Amino acid sequence: MKKIIPVRRDVKINLDESRVNNWHEAGPHVTHFFNALSVLFPAGERLFMDSVRAFKDQVQDPDLKKAITAFIGQEALHSREHEEYNEMMDRSGAPALKLDRMLWNLLGGLQNVLGKKMALAGTIALEHYTAIMANAVLSDPNVTGKNSDEGFRQVWQWHAYEETEHKAVAYDVWNEVMPDNVYNRFIRRFGMVLASVIFWPVVMYFHARLVFADPNTKGKHAQGYKAVAKILLGKGGIFRNAISDFFDYFRADFHPWMHDNSAFLDEIDAFVAQVNKAMRNPNDEVKKAVRARMAKNVAAAAA
Ligand SMILES: [Fe+2]
Ligand SMILES: [Fe+2]
Repeated sequence: MKKIIPVRRDVKINLDESRVNNWHEAGPHVTHFFNALSVLFPAGERLFMDSVRAFKDQVQDPDLKKAITAFIGQEALHSREHEEYNEMMDRSGAPALKLDRMLWNLLGGLQNVLGKKMALAGTIALEHYTAIMANAVLSDPNVTGKNSDEGFRQVWQWHAYEETEHKAVAYDVWNEVMPDNVYNRFIRRFGMVLASVIFWPVVMYFHARLVFADPNTKGKHAQGYKAVAKILLGKGGIFRNAISDFFDYFRADFHPWMHDNSAFLDEIDAFVAQVNKAMRNPNDEVKKAVRARMAKNVAAAAA
C-alpha cells in the first residue's frame, strides 16, 4: 500500500460544557468511559510524539520523514482539543486535571525506566489500540451515539479520522529503524503486552474516579456499567468485532494497513470543513485561552 502522509487540520469544535458529564446517549457511565480516554490523551499523545521524534534522525525515507512531522502535528492538535475538553470536565467537578497530572508522572517515570526502544514499542502498540477504536467509531454511529451531543460526537469522530490516517506512521518508523531480528520481533510483541497491562487498569481506574465523582451516577451503577460493557463487548461493540484485528498484531507479517479502512480518509476534509463551518461560538474566551497556551506546543510539533 502506498505511504499515506497525514495532514494537520486546524479543527474548531465547540463543546457544550453543560453536557460534559452526560453527552452520550447511553448515559453518564458511557460518557465517563470516553471522558477517561480523553484524560489519557495529553500525556499519552506526548509520549507518542516523543517516542517517534526520538528516531526521526535515523529515518532515511523522505516520505516517512514528512509523515512523522505530520503525525506529531496531528497529535499536538488532538492534545489541544482534549485539554479544552478535560478542563471543562474539571470545572464541572470531575478530577480530570488531577488524573492528568498523575498520568504525566507515571508515563514520565516509565519513559526514563524503559528507554527509547521500549517507548516506541509501547507507542506502536497503543496506536494499534487507537486504530481499532477509531475504526469502531467511524464504522458504527452507535459507538458515539446517533442522539448524543453533536459537539462531543464530532471531537471523537475527528480524532478517529486522524488516528486512522496516521495509524501506520509509528509502525513504519519501527520497521525502518529496528533491524529485523528475533530480539526486536520479541520486543515489538512484548510492547503490546506491557501496553495492555498498563492501559486497561489506568482506563478502569480513571473511569471509576470520574463515575464516582459524578452525583448523577448515584444509584445507577448496575445499568450504567451494563451500558459500558455493551458498548465495549456487546453485539456491534468496539472490541467484540475487533478481537481478530487485535491479535493480528502478534503475526509476523502484521502491518496496520493490513486492515484496510482507507476509504474513511476520503471523508476527512469534508467532515472538518463542515465542523468548522458549524462552529457555534467562535469567540469563546475559554477556547482562546487554551489555544494561546497550547500554541507553543503545536508550533514546536510542526518544527
Ligand atoms: Fe491522537
Ligand atoms: Fe495517534
